[in-house]
Amino acid sequence: MVKQRTALVTGGMGGLGTAIARTLHDAGYTVLVTHTPDSTRAEAWLAQQTAAGYSFFAYGVDITDDVMCESMAEKIHADGYQVDILINNAGITRDGTFRKMSKLNWDAVLRTNLDSLYNVTRPLIDSMLERGWGRIVNVSSINGTKGQFGQTNYSAAKAGVHGFTKALAQEVARKGVTVNTVSPGYLATEMVTSVPENILDQIVSGIPIGRLGKPDEIAGLIAFIVSDAGAFMTGSNVSMNGGQHMY
Ligand code: CAA
Repeated sequence: MVKQRTALVTGGMGGLGTAIARTLHDAGYTVLVTHTPDSTRAEAWLAQQTAAGYSFFAYGVDITDDVMCESMAEKIHADGYQVDILINNAGITRDGTFRKMSKLNWDAVLRTNLDSLYNVTRPLIDSMLERGWGRIVNVSSINGTKGQFGQTNYSAAKAGVHGFTKALAQEVARKGVTVNTVSPGYLATEMVTSVPENILDQIVSGIPIGRLGKPDEIAGLIAFIVSDAGAFMTGSNVSMNGGQHMY
């Protein structure tokens, strides 16, 4: 690597986000993470990471708010960083059958999982294009392709993620910026383990590999995509789901 590149991981304090942040740190990048502005965990999380040998820089931002995302980009710049690698990882679930789904839960998931791609990427992409190098990885889900009972909101948003990837990838390919989607299956994170046990058991029984995925496995895939070795990959949707959905 010629110089140390900087990566920004949204939702960097979550189960998958932490694994991504650590893996990119291990690969030699400067790593910035975002967390929700009202997070009570941020300080403790940072202290925990420091104790484990990781130094991260954290930005509190509501990724559903475009103005706040613009301010974050300005702050990152003022702090002396330029984001070379953006991992749009932050996401939430608000599961429920469609007939029971409130507008609140529909909006929360669409805003957090889909609108955030505009809000976070828009203020960061121009400088990647000016420098002629950039990597954007958008985290979707197996359920964006397969659909999932109880997840009309989440499946719609996650399907939208890859539409965004494919369109943007075409717009920036000539300028050294790649845009890809990673679609994890069910991982051993709090998001998944909060699914009722009997339902989760059924889901795991449908995974040919016979277990939940590990966040580190997805993080390793992302580390490859953002490396120089991944330069010819753009507009792809790379799935890693233990064989639960093959297409
Ligand atoms: N397919 C078909 N029918 C199903 C079904 C399924 N998968 N699951 C439940 N049903 C049926 C039930 O048998 C029930 O039928 P009857 O009315 O005839 O008895 C009916 O549908 C209603 O089911 P529930 O009573 O269970 O409905 P609920 O409102 O209590 O629960 C739910 C619905 C909360 C969505 C629950 O099914 C659930 O939690 N499902 C798991 C959703 C899931 O996979 N979430 C993933 C979260 S992690 C994540 O998203 C990360 C990632 O990217 C993978």
